[in-house]
Amino acid sequence: MMTDVSQVNSQYASILPGSIIGLLGGGQLGRMFALAARRMGYRIHVLDPVSDSPAGQVCDQEYHVPYDDLVSVEKFACETHVITFEFENIPSATLSALEALRPVRPDARVLRICQNREREKAFLSAQGYPLPAYRVVDSPVSLRNAVLDLGFPCVLKTADFGYDGKGQLKIEKDEDWKTIWLKFNAPHAVVETWVDFQQEISIVCARGIDGTLKTYPVSENIQNHHILDYSIVPARLDHHIQLEVEMLARSITEALKVVGLLAIEFFLTREGQILVNELAPRPHNSGHFTVDACVTSQFEQQLRAVCGLPLGSTALLSPVVMVNLLGDLWKSGTPDWKRLLSEPFARLHLYGKSQPRKGRKMGHYCILSDDVEIALDKALTLRSLIQE
Ligand SMILES: Nc1ncnc2c1ncn2[C@@H]1O[C@H](COP(=O)(O)OP(=O)(O)OP(=O)(O)O)[C@@H](O)[C@H]1O
Ligand SMILES: [Mg+2]
Repeated sequence: MMTDVSQVNSQYASILPGSIIGLLGGGQLGRMFALAARRMGYRIHVLDPVSDSPAGQVCDQEYHVPYDDLVSVEKFACETHVITFEFENIPSATLSALEALRPVRPDARVLRICQNREREKAFLSAQGYPLPAYRVVDSPVSLRNAVLDLGFPCVLKTADFGYDGKGQLKIEKDEDWKTIWLKFNAPHAVVETWVDFQQEISIVCARGIDGTLKTYPVSENIQNHHILDYSIVPARLDHHIQLEVEMLARSITEALKVVGLLAIEFFLTREGQILVNELAPRPHNSGHFTVDACVTSQFEQQLRAVCGLPLGSTALLSPVVMVNLLGDLWKSGTPDWKRLLSEPFARLHLYGKSQPRKGRKMGHYCILSDDVEIALDKALTLRSLIQE
């Protein structure tokens, strides 16, 4: 089935309910996007190399093909009205093939910048945004020089394909740089100063096709082993920091001309400086609270933006704490969901993944309360109760 191209070739035409959205990536972000889109009467076609993916389970059509199978990718594109993604590591040739056929939002230019740390940092520093000191390295010698330059501790990160701390190495002392570089096995990498932060925070900013910007409340994020553990909203921050984060987010989203969402992670240093850690042009784990606690979820907002519709309110309806459910929690059996749900202000989300591996994001829950400290206390108590 080919979609009617006249419906999609005007840059500003709205793509209305009933249309088909093409989604690249079948993970949990795609699942929650698909659920929001289906609620509003859209159809979803998902492309992911793996079958029975979290998004595939709730979409109208699944394509299990590799991202670089251009013949299948083009067939997939022709059946859609607009294409978006939940996953950044899409090959360049695939993006070009898709863009030749249908609008891709956010566009390939944004994706190419954000899918590679070197390009992302170059963009941010060229625009004058504050970020940790860094160097690009491509050999044991340049690695050694970068470490000498930046000082200990610092962190080596791959330029491509990093997520949840994968492809990162903290460096605290003089090492055998050749062995480290060979072990790292990447053509390019970034070395960055280790930031002594007081808090990690993030924000999701949406930008519509007409340039309208809306920010969600800032989230305070607690990481464990480089993976998001839980998020507290509103973040416990001075008002002027909140305002500065919002202003930075709007400015970066505008500078990138994103149509869709841009999630931005920051470090707040002990001296009160705000540094950009990284960008993601898609919904973000730290924005999951928006599903249960905001007027418009981040997923519905992504849909509205990529379809050229007006953006919804990002107002927070209740303080909230979001806790990730990692596979580790399954080590002595399935967590006690009945116990979790005996808390009437708990909202459980499971992603339909059958294998609970260590560090794998299986689901999350949110606890709502008028008082964020009560929400936090209940959220963490429940986590220990459900794995007893
Ligand atoms: N320069 C740094 N100083 C201090 N902590 C850091 C630094 N870089 C990374 N970290 C820690 O590691 C976590 C993951 O790092 P980062 O966000 O760069 O990587 P990622 O693997 O791409 O993760 P994500 O899943 O968020 O995309 C950070 O949230 C932070 O807790
Ligand atoms: Mg990160």
